[in-house]
Amino acid sequence: MDVYGLIGNPVEHSLSPPMHEAGYEALDLDARYVTFEPAADAGAEAIAAADTLAVDGLNVTIPFKQDVFEAVEPAPLAERIGAVNTVDFSGETPRGYNTDAVGAVRALAHHDVKLEGTAVVVGAGGAGRAVAFGLADEGMAVRIANRTASKATTLAAEVDGATGHGLDDLDDLLADAEVLVNCTSVGMEEDATPVPESALHGDLSVLDAVYSPIETRLLRDADAAGATTVDGAWMLLYQGVEAFELWTGETAPVEAMNRALRARL
Ligand code: ATR
Repeated sequence: MDVYGLIGNPVEHSLSPPMHEAGYEALDLDARYVTFEPAADAGAEAIAAADTLAVDGLNVTIPFKQDVFEAVEPAPLAERIGAVNTVDFSGETPRGYNTDAVGAVRALAHHDVKLEGTAVVVGAGGAGRAVAFGLADEGMAVRIANRTASKATTLAAEVDGATGHGLDDLDDLLADAEVLVNCTSVGMEEDATPVPESALHGDLSVLDAVYSPIETRLLRDADAAGATTVDGAWMLLYQGVEAFELWTGETAPVEAMNRALRARL
């Protein structure tokens, strides 16, 4: 039996176990997905222990993404992002990946969004970093807007062709943009949005990384403006799909995983 799992603290509310196990079931794979909750300072030890116990793969969440980055051999994209959310133990040494970037790209692609032109990424934290690199790698001109503008400017300096801004620039930036991704926590459990309603328009495709609630105020406003909307569960789904495919070498049963995920949202 193959063993996969998640390390985080806390992990009890994670949606990854049912999503991955639905995938194993659909493909008739002899595998399990379990959650582990090491002490907050024990990320590196947890990776060494998992390696010793021949665990096959781990997802990594808060607060371990940086510590685990130091404890594995990061793949090039994870190296640039500076954080790891997926570890593969099949090689000589544990290898670290960041599937958040690909998760956003595949979520948009699933909705036939063309990744051409200009993308505005709101937020410059962990999710913002990953998505900015992911969209720039697709060839998009990336504009990063953050409440703390200096963090956006610092991140933009690392991302090919990107520029950094404060949230006040959103009206101007979005007028010329094709894609908008919210990578802040604004809208989570509250009816708030980081983007002025007036800045949204019908030529935009809007992905909100927030998945609780599934329909955020940003997505409601975007829909009202005639934009294409992609909810955060798609990004969560596709970061899991990417990890599933890395680990198993199989094409993930996306529909089965999506159903299991949405049944719990
Ligand atoms: P994550 O890893 O999920 O990206 P994070 O690293 O804590 O989380 O980043 C949170 C992001 O949400 C940041 O871009 C933060 O902006 P600041 O850098 O200015 O802190 C943004 N954010 C959080 N609360 C916000 C709010 N009320 N308004 C605007 N942006 C907010």
